Amino acid sequence: MIFFFSGCGNSRHVAETIATGLNDTLVFIPEAAREDRYEYELVEGERLGFVFPIYAWGPPKLVMDFVKKVTVKVPEPVEGPSKRYIYFACTCGDECGLAEDIFRKALEQKGLTLNACFSVQMPETYIGMPGFKLDTDENAQRKIAAADKLMNDCILRLQNKERFSKMTKGGAAWFKSRLINPGFSKMATNDKKYYTTDACIHCGKCVEACPLKNITLEDGRPKWNGNCTMCMSCYHHCPVNAIQYGKATMGKGQYYFGRR
Ligand SMILES: Cc1cc2nc3c(=O)[nH]c(=O)nc-3n(C[C@H](O)[C@H](O)[C@H](O)COP(=O)(O)O)c2cc1C
Ligand code: SF4
Ligand code: SF4
Repeated sequence: MIFFFSGCGNSRHVAETIATGLNDTLVFIPEAAREDRYEYELVEGERLGFVFPIYAWGPPKLVMDFVKKVTVKVPEPVEGPSKRYIYFACTCGDECGLAEDIFRKALEQKGLTLNACFSVQMPETYIGMPGFKLDTDENAQRKIAAADKLMNDCILRLQNKERFSKMTKGGAAWFKSRLINPGFSKMATNDKKYYTTDACIHCGKCVEACPLKNITLEDGRPKWNGNCTMCMSCYHHCPVNAIQYGKATMGKGQYYFGRR
């Protein structure tokens, strides 16, 4: 079983690739949370996986909230060594800081042990502050090709239930994950600065694109309703680039996985 979250499709691609490689099933975290589905049971020997993007050098708050609430019964084998196997894969534009430590601790608090984890560099999606920009098309394609190669290797290791950690931590990790991350979650994860320009053609694609169902159309224009994880999917999916986030997104272009 693989629990996953994705805003702009990068982590969905990774989750689907792993699910295919392991012949496993996927559970989309926002859907499970909306439907209050927090109880799961694995069959003996089944792997438990999590896939998510990195937000401000840590796992997204909505993923951590889900981990806190979820109950996963993992059966002990009748005889022989334990075949419990728990892993996560995260996607990032560049680096993950202390995401491994943060996630490992959250699992430990539930009596679960992390056996493997890896990070996959994918095209950048965050442009909500000055100084943050998307990858060039060429760089984005290069990252996706390298990610597919890395995943082939990691899926083999997951198949063999290997214990491993292959994370891009980056520099000043403690500062970024322990100091900037909580501030980012509190201050920069809200939808108050979203608005549409006159280019809006009232198509409703932003409504469909929001994984949290946080957007409704009012008089043909999107209204953000305060339950936002800042994934930027609404911004990136607008076919006429009519959505902006303050001044930070002006002229920065759009990206989502599979966009041509
Ligand atoms: C709010 C937000 C914060 C992000 N923070 C980081 C970060 O700290 N480090 C990083 O390398 N990439 C960061 N990114 C980039 C994403 O982790 C990366 O593009 C990821 O693949 C997006 O996954 P998705 O398409 O499944 O939503 C951030 C993206 C968003 C939207
Ligand atoms: S996706 Fe863009 S054009 Fe369509 S309704 Fe939303 S803001 Fe308007
Ligand atoms: S409103 Fe936009 S940024 Fe916020 S969760 Fe929905 S799609 Fe993501």
